[in-house]
Amino acid sequence: MKRLVKNNVSWIGKIDWELQKFHGDDYSVNHGSSQNAYLIEEEKTVLIDTIWKPYDKQFRENLEKEINLEKLDFIVVNHGEVDHSGALPYLMEKVPNLPIYCTANAVKSLVGQYHHPEWNYQVVKTGDSLDIGNGKQLVFVEMRMLHWPDSMATYLTGDNILFSNDAFGQHYAVEELFNDKADQCLLWTEAMKYYANILNPFSPLVKRKIEEIVALNLPIDIIAPSHGAIWRDDPMQIVNAYAAWADSYQENQITIVYDTMWDGTKQLAHALAGEIQALDGDTVVKVFSISQTDKNDIMTEVFKSKAIALGSPTVGKSILSSVGGWLHFLSELQFKKKSAAVFGCYGWSGEGVGILREELSKAGFSVVEPEMKVNWNPTEEHLSGMRDIAEALCR
Ligand code: FEO
Repeated sequence: MKRLVKNNVSWIGKIDWELQKFHGDDYSVNHGSSQNAYLIEEEKTVLIDTIWKPYDKQFRENLEKEINLEKLDFIVVNHGEVDHSGALPYLMEKVPNLPIYCTANAVKSLVGQYHHPEWNYQVVKTGDSLDIGNGKQLVFVEMRMLHWPDSMATYLTGDNILFSNDAFGQHYAVEELFNDKADQCLLWTEAMKYYANILNPFSPLVKRKIEEIVALNLPIDIIAPSHGAIWRDDPMQIVNAYAAWADSYQENQITIVYDTMWDGTKQLAHALAGEIQALDGDTVVKVFSISQTDKNDIMTEVFKSKAIALGSPTVGKSILSSVGGWLHFLSELQFKKKSAAVFGCYGWSGEGVGILREELSKAGFSVVEPEMKVNWNPTEEHLSGMRDIAEALCR
């Protein structure tokens, strides 16, 4: 059923408490999520986005309980990704001529996914607007690469609501819908995880887009994203957080990440944590085993860090596959202005540490000179020798 957002604007989405992963297996969902669609009932009746295909029947039925579908004047598709457009084909079976307002790139993604070039697409670009009656307008703002080339936000004048789609969202189920009702710790944890794991590669664009939106000087009372809580209490707090996160964000934290075969590399990881703490008690130190920790949670910790240290033993003249996969994901996220150190044990050939150095450099990290490469198991001297790395990372 629809739920009131403000005046004649309602939420009509899906709160999914059971969802556990997203983007295939690439994103863990630990506290539920939602796909938020919105219904505007002014002189014109307008739908903003839909929800994911597994719930397409439920979505259309819910909508039909609220309105006669023939009353729908048009739909705005802010973004073509399947979690927001998946219910569109089932809806369009009932209203095949419904105008679909979206970007030119969204037409490509919708036609590519659903194979309906005959749908009534109406292409819009930044600054275009539509009158929806009662003195209100929808104004479109392209959000190219936030996070797809087709992404767009829609602003409702009068009610001052920014339907931001993925931007400012979280994979977090909030039954009460609004940010002031959410568990604040989980809300911010999930908002940061979402930024670090999805939006971070596009940080330069985020920065420019926020400047552009602020320059428009639009009053914003509510930011209504397509996932998670709707920001009605001080909505600019998430915009300000994005501005900080997009600006090579870091806290006074060093994150140590490793995997191990026979615990030698693990010993080095924990010795380094102890040395950093001994050297500088103000620096937050966290240690994660790649094979035992949620990879998205580790990436959020990397996002918060000024430096990381990465350890792997040598295996097959290379590094552990768990570390290799993790490095691949790390490089996708394009972190900036962070330093790194490398360490690891080996029995015979010992290429691992050099590969870590090379891959971290390619991923954009400044890799410090001191490293720890240990033949067989570390001695007390090796463990205390981690102090050189600690000094280089704290510097
Ligand atoms: Fe880019 Fe929520 O989909």
